[in-house]
Amino acid sequence: MSSSSKAVLPKHVAIILDGNGRWAKQRGLPRNFGHKKGAENVKEIVRAASDAGVKILTLYAFSTENWKRSAAEVRILMELFGIYLESYTEELRAQQVRVHIIGERGDLAAGLQAKAERLEAATAMNTGMVLNIAINYGGRTELLRAMAAYAATLPQPAEPSAWTEEGLAAHLYPGAQDDVDLLIRTGGDFRISNFLLWQISYAELYFTPTLWPDFTAAELRSALQNFGRRERRFGGVSEGG
Ligand code: IPE
Ligand code: IPE
Ligand code: MG
Repeated sequence: MSSSSKAVLPKHVAIILDGNGRWAKQRGLPRNFGHKKGAENVKEIVRAASDAGVKILTLYAFSTENWKRSAAEVRILMELFGIYLESYTEELRAQQVRVHIIGERGDLAAGLQAKAERLEAATAMNTGMVLNIAINYGGRTELLRAMAAYAATLPQPAEPSAWTEEGLAAHLYPGAQDDVDLLIRTGGDFRISNFLLWQISYAELYFTPTLWPDFTAAELRSALQNFGRRERRFGGVSEGG
């Protein structure tokens, strides 16, 4: 990243990692193979993001809508999450990455919940990048939960003026409350699929046809560089404009 080292880096990068099933299909393999390859790729991209200096990385692994898939596919995904959460602690310690599992955790199997808690506890003192892994995550569910939690802190009936953006954001899932600077979606579709609805309000969007298992550290760095060339105006006007 020599010549671009002065470029602005996104602080919070979020990725919708899509395309595992199609990656497998292209090879005449069952979808599970794509999920396994996709899970392996997570480690490479986490390392690359951390090395590049990203402060917060939020990955969409399983949505509240993904329960619609076949029981067999859901089971394989849950098994992979379990294996992954359990085997990752040492590597994350070496990289000083701190993990949060975000989403409706209470609906996950007790064993998986325990693994999520253990990984969070084991990495809580790490001082580097924050890694949020979204499992059973839905943006609307997150907002409903945050509104209810926020309302409980306000005297009722709350004046409309008592509600603030910062106040609501403080009740989003811990780890992923900051605005997203760069949202990446792999797999070629141009949609948000219920991810981080509040936090992406002013995110820069980067859509790529690359299927998630093929998304490399080099393509991540190129997305970060692309971000650095964009002019963010936040509703204002550009200099000299
Ligand atoms: C993303 O890959 C992983 C999850 C949503 C769990 P997909 O499984 O959605 O792959 P495609 O979109 O069918 O190729
Ligand atoms: C989005 O992928 C959710 C995750 C990556 C976890 P999907 O494959 O579920 O999204 P849709 O169904 O194409 O919107
Ligand atoms: Mg998909």
